[in-house]
Amino acid sequence: MTPAPVLPYTLRPALPRDVRSIRGLVEPYAARRILIAKEAVAYYETVQEFVVADAGSREAPDLVGCGALHIMWEDLAEIRTLAVDDGRLGTGIGHEIVSRLVERARDLGLRRVFCLTFEVDFFHRHGFRVIEGTPVDPTVYAELLRSHDDGIAEFLDLARVKPNTLGNTRMLLDL
Ligand SMILES: CC(C)(COP(=O)(O)OP(=O)(O)OC[C@H]1O[C@@H](n2cnc3c(N)ncnc32)[C@H](O)[C@@H]1OP(=O)(O)O)[C@@H](O)C(=O)NCCC(=O)NCCS
Repeated sequence: MTPAPVLPYTLRPALPRDVRSIRGLVEPYAARRILIAKEAVAYYETVQEFVVADAGSREAPDLVGCGALHIMWEDLAEIRTLAVDDGRLGTGIGHEIVSRLVERARDLGLRRVFCLTFEVDFFHRHGFRVIEGTPVDPTVYAELLRSHDDGIAEFLDLARVKPNTLGNTRMLLDL
């Protein structure tokens, strides 16, 4: 197969007006149960966590990728909702978004970044390693249990989110 052409785009923090397009990027992957589907309000509430790849202009954005860094604890965050438009796969956008999110994690003084993914080789390239279990001490575990966030429930490997996590690999990057 001929590789897709590398067309120009810029990476930037997401704006509230991008939420519709972010949902459009996630939707095909959520339909295949690769990513979790969320309500629109959840995206507006967390829009500041997102970086987007925009191949359009300020007046007419054209989002071709997105990804978020969700802080879980004082030293820990998760890369989540990473999605690239299927016409642009294999052109470097996914790696650029992950690099930007890892840079954000460093700037925030975090020490570890978690991800739950089918894309093990992809995340290996950034230094993520496969882990078993939940790498927090029992006190932090108990605190995290108080969250209503599905991603945190997945991190904790709770029974109620098992259908979401089936077949996924748990990975961790030490910064
Ligand atoms: C995982 C995902 C984000 C990767 O996005 P992507 O934009 O295709 O990623 P990249 O193009 O940066 O890298 C993919 C491959 O293309 C290759 N590539 C990168 N730039 C390239 C270029 N200019 N030309 C040709 N190939 C290129 C890379 O070698 C890379 O291979 P590697 O992963 O073995 O290193 C995408 O497949 C996706 O949206 N998946 C569904 C959602 C998901 O699983 N998210 C992760 C969990 S949150």
